[in-house]
Amino acid sequence: MATLKAVRGTRDLLPPETELWNRIEATARRVFARYNFGEIRTPIFEDTALFARSVGEETDIVSKEMYTWEDRARAQSEKAQSLTLRPENTAGVVRAYIEHKLGESGQLQKLYYIGPQFRRERPQKGRYRQFWQIGAEAIGPPSSGSESPLRDAEVLEMLATLLDELGIKGWTLELNSVGSSADRARYNEVLRTALVSVAPKMCVDCQRRAVTNPLRVLDCKVPEDQPLIESLPKIGDSLGAEAKEHFAAVVAALDSAGVPYILNHRLVRGLDYYTRTTFEFTHGGLGAQNALLGGGRYDGLSEALGGPRAPGIGFAMGLDRLVLTLQAGDLNQESAPPQVALDAYIAPLGENLNAAALTLARELRRAGFNVELGDGSFRLKKSFEAADKIARRIVILGEDELQSGILTVKDFTRGTQTKVPRAELAAFLATAAGE
Ligand code: HAM
Repeated sequence: MATLKAVRGTRDLLPPETELWNRIEATARRVFARYNFGEIRTPIFEDTALFARSVGEETDIVSKEMYTWEDRARAQSEKAQSLTLRPENTAGVVRAYIEHKLGESGQLQKLYYIGPQFRRERPQKGRYRQFWQIGAEAIGPPSSGSESPLRDAEVLEMLATLLDELGIKGWTLELNSVGSSADRARYNEVLRTALVSVAPKMCVDCQRRAVTNPLRVLDCKVPEDQPLIESLPKIGDSLGAEAKEHFAAVVAALDSAGVPYILNHRLVRGLDYYTRTTFEFTHGGLGAQNALLGGGRYDGLSEALGGPRAPGIGFAMGLDRLVLTLQAGDLNQESAPPQVALDAYIAPLGENLNAAALTLARELRRAGFNVELGDGSFRLKKSFEAADKIARRIVILGEDELQSGILTVKDFTRGTQTKVPRAELAAFLATAAGE
């Protein structure tokens, strides 16, 4: 029988790598808390229409990358519903914002999430079909200050801080503005017109994009097309006065906060809901999939989903890509996961001592120590070898020890052997651990 494997584009995360994942998540939670973001958890699947109406029908994500299925109707009267595994989390957060009337508090809602997303992309380094995002959204009625350029700058400054605290060095913040939805629509038409004469000289994908979604031409990576793309009109020239002013204020706030960035007029992002500020943090070590994270403003998204006016800004970082970057050698001293050796390995000398060993392990674990338990069927040599690999000490539990209540503890790092009364074992481990 053929053995079953994880599905293409998905993978298992195993210890000790999961420690790194947990550490990244813990750092993110700590930083988000300092900026007053609270956690939201939305469902992993949603009504398909949610993504069509937010991310956009014409985008790659919605048109070809979603895992969508018809949910069977349970009763005759029920209609089958089209459901989709979430390809991203902004749509779900804004749906929840509307559904729970979070805007009625009048407060800016600052929400973060950590969880898996699903896109049927071609798997490669840094690109998976199930991947993880750590993201955050700041959304609220205009009276909550949600439209203020200060929010854009605060989010970007928080991201710079988070990447620094994670120990990721050498990132680049790329920044742009795509203007209001009217500015963006206008630019799309400017591009469409300009592409009539240029597109025939470009790759086949661009020839198609020139007709279906001209903005996507700017994402083209084909080297021969680059000079042609650079010759196209730039979005900055299509921005209205308001968008220009907003962008200038964001840039000024970043300058005064000392957050470095570069302007990239081609950064229009692959999701339709963006307005005004768009950004990505890239990292050279990642290869073709060089975006550590992406985000921007979506001032019209709530209304597009039938909700109240609620401008917002947010981002999502690829957790898989953060891990790759850190593993590729960006780990600095403070951020390197500590080499955690267990506090003790308990070696029962005989199967009849297994139960007593389990009791001893339970006592120590309850006292907060990390303990592994050997097995009474092991020879002493095997126990020593096993313990030496994973624990700082081995605690021998033989008949004599059980009777006398005096245990033998061998410390591998110090090379010492000590007799310790059982009642004092926890105290002994605690003192020794502190040295
Ligand atoms: P996105 O640019 O589609 O934006 O994804 C954000 C990040 O998720 C990417 O920069 C990348 O690090 C990671 N990512 C995306 N696809 C994959 C994949 N197939 N494998 C591994 N990592 C991936 C969004 O999702 C928006 N919701 C961000 C946002 C939040 N905008 C405003 N608020």
